[in-house]
Amino acid sequence: MQPRSSIGVFDSGYGGLTVLKEIVNKLPQYDYLYLGDSARAPYGNRSFDTVYHYTLQCVKWFFEQGCSLVILACNTASAKALRTIQQNDLPGLAPGKRVLGVIRPTAEIIGKFSETKSVGVLATNGTVVSESYPMEINKFFPGLKVHQEACPMWVPLVENNEHENNGADYFVKKNLQNIFEKGEDIDVILLACTHYPLLKEKIEEYLPVGVKLLSQGEIVAESLADYLQRHPEIENLCSRGGQHTFYTTDSTEDFDNHATVFFGKQVKSKHVDLDSVTG
Ligand code: DGL
Repeated sequence: MQPRSSIGVFDSGYGGLTVLKEIVNKLPQYDYLYLGDSARAPYGNRSFDTVYHYTLQCVKWFFEQGCSLVILACNTASAKALRTIQQNDLPGLAPGKRVLGVIRPTAEIIGKFSETKSVGVLATNGTVVSESYPMEINKFFPGLKVHQEACPMWVPLVENNEHENNGADYFVKKNLQNIFEKGEDIDVILLACTHYPLLKEKIEEYLPVGVKLLSQGEIVAESLADYLQRHPEIENLCSRGGQHTFYTTDSTEDFDNHATVFFGKQVKSKHVDLDSVTG
C-alpha cells in the first residue's frame, strides 16, 4: 500500500492561499503541501499551451513529493490545463492519483444563489476566453445567464500590494461597470480568480445594493470535504498531521511577505527549482 502523504495545493502564485486558508479551516486534520509558481506568474494572459505545460510540470512535482491528491487552486490552470491532465496525462502518469480544480465545484452551486437567473463572473483573461464557466455552469443550471468580464489588472494590483490603494479603485469600478452593462439583472458576482478575495472590500464599495458577492475558498473547501467522504480510497492516502509546507519557484522572502497577507498567518517557505521536472 502507498504511504499516506500531504494534499497538494497549487497556484500560479499566492492566490491559492486564499483557498488553502478555507480548506485548512474546514479540514485541519490533514497535511498540506502548497506550491506557488511565482517565478512564472501571472498565468492569466499566457497561452493554453504554456499554462498546460507549466501546470503539468507542477503536478508532476507534487507527485514526486508523494502527493496522491492535488488541487489546482487556480482558475486559469483549472480552465486551461485540468481537463487535458485528467484525461490525457493522468492515466499514463499516475492512474491512482487525482487532480481536481476549482471551476466545477463553483459551477455546481452558483445557480442556487441567483433569483434573477443571471450571474456575473469576474476572472483573468485566460479563464474568460476558455469559456469554462459558461460551459460548466450550463451543465448544472441550463438557462442561467452567465456574463463574464476579464479583469487583467486585478492580479498585478494584488501581487504588487496595491489592492488597498486608490489605483485599485479605478480598475475595480471600471470592470464592475462593464459587467453590469453586459447584464443589468445580475444578482450574483463570482470572484473566479483566487487572487480577487483580497479586493473584496473595494469590490463591495462599488457593488449595487442587493448583489451577492461569492468567493471560492469556502465553496472549494466544502466540496473537498464532500469528495474525501465519497472517495475513501483517496482519503486513505492523505496523511493527518495538521502540517503545512510551502514552496515557491521564486524568492522565499517575497513569497513569505505576500503569503502572510493571503493566508492570514505567518508563512515560512522553501525555494524549489522545477528544472529537473519535465513539463
Ligand atoms: N489566481 C489565479 C486564478 O485563480 C490567476 C493568477 C494568474 O493570472 O496567474 O486564476
